[in-house]
Amino acid sequence: MFIIPLTLFSLTVTIVRTADYPLSYCSSSDGTYKLTPFDKPTPGNATPAGASTWSLTVDDTPAGRKQKVLGFGACVTDSTVAVFNLLSESKLAELLRTLVTRAGAGFNLMRHTVGCSDLSGDPAYTYDDNGGSADVNLTGFNLGDRGNAMVAMLKRMRDVNPKIKILGSPWSPPGWMKLNRKLWGTTKNNNLDHAYVDPYAQYFVKYLEAYRDGGVSVDAITIQNEPHNSRNGMPTMYIYADESGRLINEKIGPALKAAGLRTQVWAWDHNTDVPEYPQKVLDTAPSFVKTVAWHCYARNNDWATLSRFHERNPNVTQIMSECWTSPKTGWVHAADFTMGPLQNWGGGAIAWALGTNPEYGPHLSYPDGPAPPAADL
Ligand SMILES: *[C@@H]1O[C@H](CO)[C@@H](O)[C@H](O)[C@H]1NC(C)=O
Ligand SMILES: *[C@@H]1O[C@H](CO)[C@@H](O)[C@H](O)[C@H]1NC(C)=O
Repeated sequence: MFIIPLTLFSLTVTIVRTADYPLSYCSSSDGTYKLTPFDKPTPGNATPAGASTWSLTVDDTPAGRKQKVLGFGACVTDSTVAVFNLLSESKLAELLRTLVTRAGAGFNLMRHTVGCSDLSGDPAYTYDDNGGSADVNLTGFNLGDRGNAMVAMLKRMRDVNPKIKILGSPWSPPGWMKLNRKLWGTTKNNNLDHAYVDPYAQYFVKYLEAYRDGGVSVDAITIQNEPHNSRNGMPTMYIYADESGRLINEKIGPALKAAGLRTQVWAWDHNTDVPEYPQKVLDTAPSFVKTVAWHCYARNNDWATLSRFHERNPNVTQIMSECWTSPKTGWVHAADFTMGPLQNWGGGAIAWALGTNPEYGPHLSYPDGPAPPAADL
């Protein structure tokens, strides 16, 4: 099993009450470190990204109060569930304790994939594929084996730490709801077919109800992972800013409300280089959207975008909802994607996959071409 090389460290602000409590942990892809207590990085010492990455000034007077921090965590993908379920019961119990309690990393803000993502084994799926035919009343809705396994794993995490907050994000709705009729991205028509906006909204309701009935209330959703990503050979879908705002305001928000679901809807879930997108969503669906989710992959990623966004939207919560650290990325990366948002009004950070096998899988086999190089996943 492989845990994404994620360096976890307590910030200088962490109040450590027990003298022998480890100050930081490290995991590495070669298995040398497995959430091993580790000397925390110090400014000016082995910090290739520069001391500024690590510096955090704390003003704990009332005047110094800034954002609320929801927490930190990673994404539970189908690959995570598959590899965790290979462990013996006692190992899994120990791993979960280590990941989500204060005896370990204390992760408390987790994301999960709704249906397949690229980090699912074949075949690609959603919760209502219906053999590709339209199922407007969603009578064929079912979580399937992998959806049920996801619910069971999230429930175990919640049982260990009842305070975990969970965000759910789909990579694609069922193919029949899309103009291209596929889960895959295609250069054309990788968009929602608006003939199916009502089933599309109900799909979220059914997913949230099924998870709730399985013991996992989901705190928040984004309606689409990376809505500006239409990558060929991956489950994706384009949703444009205005379209997203209207889908939430006119369909998804009201559908959740009518079903009595208190799940929040977070905007965007993509990179920091298009702040106009979440702004448009907030402006279009102000009664439903109070939080914006950002990814780290913009070419010249600039976390100061979050500060500028905060100036214009002082009451909006901002979360870094996805960042992948490859084995080749400097290990300061995890510090950057947590500290960067925190220094700019961010309320938390969620790393990409919590676990995969040593081949970064199971992952989809990319029927439209060879698998992209690992560094590109
Ligand atoms: C969907 O449900 C509605 C209302 O119950 C019904 O009138 C309609 O025939 C159903 N559509 C299909 C395709 O089953
Ligand atoms: C932010 O929230 C505060 C307190 O609820 C409120 O007084 C203020 O008007 C809000 N600001 C904006 C820009 O919405």
